[in-house]
Amino acid sequence: MRGALIGCGFFAQNHLNAWQDLRAEGIELVAVCDIDAAKAKAAAEAFGIPRHYNDPAELFANEKLDFVDIATRMETHLDLVRLATSHGVRTIVQKPLAPDWETCLAIVKTAHDAGVPLAVHENFRFQTPMRHLKSVLDSGVIGKPSWGRFSFRFGFDIYKTQPYFHLEKRLVILDSGIHILDLARFFLGEVKHLSCETQQRNPKNIGEDTATMLLRHVSGAVSIVEASYESRQIPDPVLQTLITIEGERGSIKLLEDFCMVVTAGQKSTEMQVGSPLLAWTEQPWHTLQESVLKTQRAIIEAWKLGNDAETSGIDNLKTFSLVEAAYQAAESGSATTPAEGFDKSSHY
Ligand SMILES: NC(=O)c1ccc[n+]([C@@H]2O[C@H](COP(=O)([O-])OP(=O)(O)OC[C@H]3O[C@@H](n4cnc5c(N)ncnc54)[C@H](O)[C@@H]3O)[C@@H](O)[C@H]2O)c1
Repeated sequence: MRGALIGCGFFAQNHLNAWQDLRAEGIELVAVCDIDAAKAKAAAEAFGIPRHYNDPAELFANEKLDFVDIATRMETHLDLVRLATSHGVRTIVQKPLAPDWETCLAIVKTAHDAGVPLAVHENFRFQTPMRHLKSVLDSGVIGKPSWGRFSFRFGFDIYKTQPYFHLEKRLVILDSGIHILDLARFFLGEVKHLSCETQQRNPKNIGEDTATMLLRHVSGAVSIVEASYESRQIPDPVLQTLITIEGERGSIKLLEDFCMVVTAGQKSTEMQVGSPLLAWTEQPWHTLQESVLKTQRAIIEAWKLGNDAETSGIDNLKTFSLVEAAYQAAESGSATTPAEGFDKSSHY
């Protein structure tokens, strides 16, 4: 599989490292591209990638690609997906797919109409602790889940590496809440309605930096989804999603430092479910970093088998519809039903 990476900025460094690890599995980046020519050149040199470009159109004109990985910010995604799919190149796009629901729909429709597979780099569900938790849940030991809490709150200075966050009108729900809403779907299924309260606790931010959401799932389960960049705690559980899921016969808790506690009947078992450290990952980011590798591998493996990725564009619309519903609910002050996703048949 011959691929290219578009966008060689802050988070793309994880993509570059992960693609390098995947070389052993027959997946190779043959080119990188960034409108900032120095960044493209630096990435190519650091990772031994043969060619670099500063114009995406030139990249597609010159390279024969099996896939492209787009790690630019959301405002650029629609144009880049149009370009990639017009060349028939399978496309991975970083989350959030786009700034709003209409643009997300346009992106998914573009790929669908071109007959080109589209996947979203929604990586939290691929984190090692999440896969452990899912296998315990699916084993049935706690019975049918009926309640959950998914909490992602810390005070680490994320504005240092992503200073543009201060100016985002939609901040924590769109940037991180989107991952946590995806986890709520992953563990408890689709959502019937949700309500949401937002807060702007850091005066430098123009968007919400704290969100508290209440979800009723189609299964009948209820969950709380929380995300905040303004939570002061020592130790700071930076980038850790803390989870409780309760079922009819027990519960699963994912606590600080990736300690999972499973209670089933009268017995409680504790285990460590953190990610191993890779050559290029470092604490405390390692679990997030490793999930980049796992997401890329899962997408490519699905495509090799001729399947849709688990986090296909169509699947990701279901997560984005929760983001959009959360903003609507926060504005209206009442529970909101998420929009219908993309119906393949009605878009022919
Ligand atoms: N999944 C995760 O866990 C996670 C974590 C952090 C960031 N992200 C996402 O990664 C994406 C990038 O964020 P970032 O903080 O790395 O941004 P960034 O600004 O550091 O990097 C973006 C890069 O894209 C380049 N670029 C912009 N437009 C381009 C174009 N048309 N063609 C080629 N290159 C172009 C810029 O020059 C820049 O180098 C965002 O969508 C963000 O939400 C995801």
